[in-house]
Amino acid sequence: MPLDATRQDLSLAVIGTGVMGRGIAQIAAQAGIRVVLYDTRSGAAPAARDYVAQMLSRLAEKGRLAPDAAKAALDRIEIANVLERLDACDVVVEAIVEDLAAKRELFGHLEGIVSPECVLATNTSSLQVTAIAAECRHPERVAGFHFFNPVPLMKVVEVIDGVMTAPWVGEALAALAGRMGHTPVRAKDTPGFIVNHAGRAYGTEAFQILREGIAEFHQIDRVLREAAGFRMGPFELLDLTGLDVSHAVMESIYNQYYQEPRYRPSPIAALRVMAGLLGRKSGDRGFYRYSGGKAEPIPEPPPPPPADVPVWVSGEGLGPALVDLVAKLDPRARSGAKPDERALCLVAPLGKDTTTAALAEGLDPTRTVAVDCLPGLAKRRTLMTTPLTSPAMRDAAHALFAKDGVPVTVIHDSPGFIAQRVIAQIVNIGCDIAQQRIATPQDIDRAVTLGLGYPAGPLTWGDTVGPARILAILGELFDFYQDPRYRPSPWLKRRARLGVSLLAPEQ
Ligand code: NAI
Repeated sequence: MPLDATRQDLSLAVIGTGVMGRGIAQIAAQAGIRVVLYDTRSGAAPAARDYVAQMLSRLAEKGRLAPDAAKAALDRIEIANVLERLDACDVVVEAIVEDLAAKRELFGHLEGIVSPECVLATNTSSLQVTAIAAECRHPERVAGFHFFNPVPLMKVVEVIDGVMTAPWVGEALAALAGRMGHTPVRAKDTPGFIVNHAGRAYGTEAFQILREGIAEFHQIDRVLREAAGFRMGPFELLDLTGLDVSHAVMESIYNQYYQEPRYRPSPIAALRVMAGLLGRKSGDRGFYRYSGGKAEPIPEPPPPPPADVPVWVSGEGLGPALVDLVAKLDPRARSGAKPDERALCLVAPLGKDTTTAALAEGLDPTRTVAVDCLPGLAKRRTLMTTPLTSPAMRDAAHALFAKDGVPVTVIHDSPGFIAQRVIAQIVNIGCDIAQQRIATPQDIDRAVTLGLGYPAGPLTWGDTVGPARILAILGELFDFYQDPRYRPSPWLKRRARLGVSLLAPEQ
């Protein structure tokens, strides 16, 4: 009998009442569901109930929950001292230690207690649901129910179908998630599911840029935050999460996909973990130094004084946007067919590095500077030199683009600057998740915006930039590095060629 998530007298057990279990218990109780808490550690379940009580009364104090609703929610939470007390539950959500043997053993015990229809859900973030279900007598009622921390605030949950999971189980859990006020996203059982899979591009590409000496970590953070619109730069995020945790996830996903180059972790991260440079949790030893819980600001060099050099702007690539901007900053700038002898040459490549763009357009590489026109130019501008660009030309360009007060970041040569390559990789991995039929394009975007807080889901972002442009950036990256890391996903390639949306499903 399939589970009816709307049933008034629904009863849900939470096993493992730590960080995640208590959050799941809270939102279930608030949704009018009877909750039974169980934990093997003595005192853990009552402590979790006390914690939920505190959270509910805080919500009531802030006026976000009526006091009687807070009391009713708490009254719905009971504590079980023995596993046998869960015999009448309709759903069990397991949130115990992340250990396959422990989870398998627990599910084995549970199958001897609960009814054969009871849904067994696991909150695992890195194990395969299929592996947990494999030794069960009824693997078809086992599914993933992956919440994010903190559960009441992170309003998305991945509902994961193991290889053996019956379709009704995922549907019932998705309905249950909706009742608990969360957005369910459906995923096939694969390493990292959706969120931890789609999140592989941001940090790994940032490390790739750092490792190649293209920019400093704080420059990468500034560009991605201010120009590309991420809430936190990748290195700020790594410091917050803890590099030991993030690097382990990077390695795990990379290896579970049999060394897929798109997810390749960085030797820089491994070394920093060895050194104990883990981030905020190591006090002042992360990418940033922390005092009083805050990162010490890294000063930005002031722009050089304006230089009196003629300026020429290329119309190639994303040139039209650059021509408009430069016309405002220097009304004498020219954008004809050929630059003057002494002119600073400005180019706006899509995917190409400055060297390749300068040579392709027959420009003098000692006088060429590239500008990233793909992300917005209003909040921060990225300039990129060739290895031969003279310091005088570099500084002249820096002064020009800082003229209206917008901050400027000057980086070394790279196909796709910083923002173009990071955005292209995020879109590419999102596309490949769709190609592998792990989730629908819509669910991929929902999972990424709600679970990772990116400014847009990867497929919507790709549509906004234009699939053909994303494909062009990846093509240039692939040509330049000859690294399969940058090979475009078939999902992207076909839709870019057909000129259709990345959100368009297969017919
Ligand atoms: P936690 O360490 O805060 O809590 C785990 C609880 O399970 C502890 O109270 C422990 O006493 C209890 N426990 C351990 N073995 C048990 C058993 N055999 N039977 C009953 N209780 C048992 O762990 P946390 O962070 O809440 O994680 C729980 C699960 O959720 C793990 O699978 C983890 O991977 C997953 N997860 C964690 C996230 C996080 O940010 N902390 C995010 C998403 C998923």
